[in-house]
Amino acid sequence: RLFTVINRENNFIFNGSDTVELVNKYGTPLYVVSEDHIIDRCIEIKRSFLEKYENTRAVYASKAFLTKEMCKIVSREGLGIDVVSGGEMYTAIKAGFPMENVIFHGNNKTIDEIELAIKSNVGRVVVDNLYELELLNALAAEENKVMDILFRITPGVDSYTHEYISTGQIDSKFGIPLKEEILFEAIYMAMDMEYINLLGFHFHVGSQLFENTSHLMAVDILLELIKDVKEKIGFETEELNVGGGFGIAYTKEDNPRGLSYFVDPIMEEIQNKCNEFDLKRPKVIIEPGRWIIGEAGITLYTIGAIKEIPNVRTYIGIDGGLPDNPRPALYKAHYEAVIANKMNEEIVNKVTIAGKCCESGDILIKDLEVPEIEPGDIIAVKSTGAYNYSMASNYNMIPRPPVVMIKDGVDRLVVRRETYDDILSREVI
Ligand code: LLP
Repeated sequence: RLFTVINRENNFIFNGSDTVELVNKYGTPLYVVSEDHIIDRCIEIKRSFLEKYENTRAVYASKAFLTKEMCKIVSREGLGIDVVSGGEMYTAIKAGFPMENVIFHGNNKTIDEIELAIKSNVGRVVVDNLYELELLNALAAEENKVMDILFRITPGVDSYTHEYISTGQIDSKFGIPLKEEILFEAIYMAMDMEYINLLGFHFHVGSQLFENTSHLMAVDILLELIKDVKEKIGFETEELNVGGGFGIAYTKEDNPRGLSYFVDPIMEEIQNKCNEFDLKRPKVIIEPGRWIIGEAGITLYTIGAIKEIPNVRTYIGIDGGLPDNPRPALYKAHYEAVIANKMNEEIVNKVTIAGKCCESGDILIKDLEVPEIEPGDIIAVKSTGAYNYSMASNYNMIPRPPVVMIKDGVDRLVVRRETYDDILSREVI
């Protein structure tokens, strides 16, 4: 449904919209997001997870891409959201998101953020450490509210992804280490606290995963823990949140295996362990981010300077780069792209797509196969929906691109282009 047709002008049609016309209307760089694709993914979550297994819940990890409009779409589709900061929480509040469906994460939540969470009645706080537990209890007491929490556990499993986005290993800044003396102490404390209602546990093993092994290893570890705390402390786990991390396709080499590949074995393993240990199966929560939004987005740029270094490389300069997509520089992420106004032309060259930042690392794509190109051509980089807009910066004082959503071939602006004055607007001199 997404990358299907090419029209008579040889233009790239994205979700029913001619990308060249979008460029004429909104300029470049431009983030384009398919609402239809987001909805398709939410439907898939319902079909393959929520409706297939009872006592389950899905939340969208909003760090991947968050606007008020996104909150509305996700909420309409029946998902909750996970937020990791006051800013993400505030966005949800402003979008009118049902706050009981919000899960609040973070390894060092500030007092202000915790207060906002309490006042806005977020549904769950995933508590990362004992300092936070005491803080939350004290601040909740002031508001006379009992907060439902999960403990984030570091399961101590490695996931096979870039180390900066791998989170479950023993040496991690996230979560409570799997040490009986620390963990049991935390559970005792929580059970004693008047304004804390401990419901269970959370883990997240990493991001952009193609294998389910780390999830399954973590599930085994958590179920052992759930059994132990029941036997030794009498604590009954009601909820288990298994995080997100399901991989998507960025290039032809990527072979994501879909949601069922993850959730079916996870659910089977949880059920088996519960049977084996004679436990009631807890509610299971998943929190995918990238899987919902990643492939739904493309970024359009205009090609400018073309620099041919004989026998070495041809650099194609674009009017964006690292500020709108830091992932290649940060994680050596690979992307694919097409020349959006020359879709049927013969491939004749291999080029390097270079961003416009004053920094050699600002290279978006190496060795992209392209037809004959010239300044003014449009390039469409695929799978930029996740962790692009949300990670964009103003490096080199470059304004951030607008976001246009497409539904049924109809485009609408959801975030306008930033101006130079926007960038300067917080300066006080
Ligand atoms: N839940 C928790 C607790 C997480 O920490 C994350 C991601 C997710 C869910 C969602 O993971 P996803 O389903 O999107 O893989 N900026 C990096 C990704 C960082 C992910 C951090 N945590 C990137 O651009 O690849």
